[in-house]
Amino acid sequence: MTRPETSSSDRQASVVDLDARALMDSLEDAVFIHDFQGRMFDINQAACTRLGYTREELLKQGLQAIDSPEFANQVPDRMAALRKTGKGLFESVHLCKNGKGIPVEVNARLIEFNGTTLVIGVSRDITERKLAEQEKTRIQSQLLHSSKLASIGTLAAGVAHEINNPLTIIRGQNEFIRESLILNEADPKMIQTLDKQEQAIGRIAGIVNSLRLYARNDNSTSEEVNIHQIIQETLSLVANIYKRAQIQIETQLRSINPTTAGNIGQMQQVILNLIVNAKDALEGRKSGGLIRLETEDVGTTAIVLRLSDNGCGMHPNQLQQIFNAFYTTKPPGKGTGLGLPISHSIITSMKGTIDVASEPGVGTVFTLTLPKLR
Ligand SMILES: Nc1ncnc2c1ncn2[C@@H]1O[C@H](COP(=O)(O)OP(=O)(O)OP(=O)(O)O)[C@@H](O)[C@H]1O
Ligand SMILES: [Mg+2]
Repeated sequence: MTRPETSSSDRQASVVDLDARALMDSLEDAVFIHDFQGRMFDINQAACTRLGYTREELLKQGLQAIDSPEFANQVPDRMAALRKTGKGLFESVHLCKNGKGIPVEVNARLIEFNGTTLVIGVSRDITERKLAEQEKTRIQSQLLHSSKLASIGTLAAGVAHEINNPLTIIRGQNEFIRESLILNEADPKMIQTLDKQEQAIGRIAGIVNSLRLYARNDNSTSEEVNIHQIIQETLSLVANIYKRAQIQIETQLRSINPTTAGNIGQMQQVILNLIVNAKDALEGRKSGGLIRLETEDVGTTAIVLRLSDNGCGMHPNQLQQIFNAFYTTKPPGKGTGLGLPISHSIITSMKGTIDVASEPGVGTVFTLTLPKLR
């Protein structure tokens, strides 16, 4: 059977008439045809599949039920703009039947149907784009944070240098005064006062030293650092103190080859900082205090050290600040707020990362990821 001859414009018209629905249903984007009041006139298959409704159910839903509440109140303004310009491009979040929200970009146009003006909206799922944008924002704020830390580091190094010189002079002169007092058999109270002063100066010197470390101004050499060895040495240093405080320390050292490049002294400092923080977080807890140190290999290139405690934990707004220099929640004399910024600075210099997760009343986990030496 031969087909009757048709003109080119006849052929085009018949394709649209017969296959308009099939065409609409073959689209990956969801299509909604509705009036200015938001009453649905037609939808395609992708709209039903994406939102989890049957065709009948979705046709009964008004447009307002599909837009999530924070976007639904923008509908009247969008309609007004559409009436005015005949087109619109906007972002929204569409709600599925199960309550899940899907970020979408809607491209809307006006169409005439049986003498009525309707809106045809083609909605594209932009979940992936949104995730990429979030990731970009996260990386940008991380970069901002790193550059902030770097500038604080430069400032800290300068301040430390300036304080160190007069401090050395004060220490030397105190020594001279002490000798004179002893020689002249002065009142022992005077010598005691001098001792207290010396203690206070010692504390200032300690802070200044920490600041210098924070700024990584110590030109330390890079050597092979065995993480397991450092953990064990550091734990043996503090074992008795933790036992007295009734804190249990558990280790699960699973890395096969726990070596990285860095400075042993600095790595000791990082681990000590973290376990001292964990101990402080357990203060006030009568029993069941637990600090766990775990290591494991990530493929052949990295080693992960996780240090967790079941202490007081931290609120999100506190978490945001813990790597800021001088941020502390501890009483004066107990915390300087330099432990974590210094640890961050040391781990970054080893080309590693330090992450933290915490929940108030549950505990905290610090995760260090370091590149393997070989
Ligand atoms: N494991 C943890 N659990 C709960 N809070 C923590 C933990 N580790 C750190 N923090 C919080 O982060 C703050 C900053 O810690 P960081 O080690 O930088 O300073 P610090 O311990 O206060 O003083 P420093 O270490 O200089 O003596 C702490 O004051 C505390 O509020
Ligand atoms: Mg600390």
